[in-house]
Amino acid sequence: MPTDVKSLIQEGAELTDRALEALLPSAETVPASIHGAMRHSTFAGGKRLRPVLAMQAAVAIAGKLPEGIAQLGAAIEMLHTYSLIHDDLPALDNDDLRRGKPTCHVVFGEAIAILAGDALQTRAFEVLANLPVGAETAVQVMRLVSSAVGTVDGMIGGQVLDIESEHIRPTPELVEAIHRAKTGALIRVSIVAGGVYAGATAAEAAALDTFGRKAGLAFQIVDDVLDITVDSEQLGKTAGKDLAVEKATWPAVYGLEQSQRDAATLIDEAFAALASFGSRAEGLKSVARYLVERQN
Ligand code: IPE
Ligand code: IPE
Ligand code: MG
Ligand code: MG
Ligand code: MG
Repeated sequence: MPTDVKSLIQEGAELTDRALEALLPSAETVPASIHGAMRHSTFAGGKRLRPVLAMQAAVAIAGKLPEGIAQLGAAIEMLHTYSLIHDDLPALDNDDLRRGKPTCHVVFGEAIAILAGDALQTRAFEVLANLPVGAETAVQVMRLVSSAVGTVDGMIGGQVLDIESEHIRPTPELVEAIHRAKTGALIRVSIVAGGVYAGATAAEAAALDTFGRKAGLAFQIVDDVLDITVDSEQLGKTAGKDLAVEKATWPAVYGLEQSQRDAATLIDEAFAALASFGSRAEGLKSVARYLVERQN
């Protein structure tokens, strides 16, 4: 990846890691098992792309990183990590490798892994409630984020559709609904919430929403592609899983090459929504480009 987006992502990831370190209870805090489990999955080496998107969306609005934005990024990353811990459970995707490490339930047992996911979710909302912005903005962010991880067109709803669609021949409508919800919604809200945190007007938030919808869908298409084209070591998670359990994926409907083209086209379309932001949106665009060019 080009040096400028590489350093942008690295700096955003470091800010996020520092905030997570400060916001999560230490591994020694009683009861230690759950805090160890929360930290095991949170600090296993995620790319921190959602926090970085939130930060660059904020820059597109405010021209610079607003004070305290890393706390918003950290809360989003807690929610994402919770979704991964639960996604990997035996009752869902039954995976034993995540972010290059054994999954939470493999190390800590199923009971603690379930509770660690729950706890990351509740801690995330506590962090959002304490965001160092006006109460009205904090409430607006909480409203947006809670809806994005919920059951109606949100992450949990998408996970339900994903699980219930295994072993059936997916239609284009079904796979789009799954992808928009299970993954797209959290990516999209990361971008919109970053903008709202930075004081976006309703029109600016709507433009970020359009951008986020396209980028979020592209992100999951690429996740499906990488499951086929990259090995487990590079992915940090078990490759080839989707075919093995006949998941409803974009390549299952459109094939590999069309999927790669669709992801690239969606990002180009997404850029159009940012036309009015001018050069302040360059960082956000470069991270979105990385979403489809990444190899893990
Ligand atoms: C993986 O997300 C899970 C999906 C929602 C597709 P990422 O590819 O962002 O995973 P990490 O956070 O870098 O591990
Ligand atoms: C997971 O989708 C989406 C969420 C965790 C909400 P996948 O099941 O495709 O994610 P990976 O491939 O295991 O990371
Ligand atoms: Mg899954
Ligand atoms: Mg999975
Ligand atoms: Mg996947």
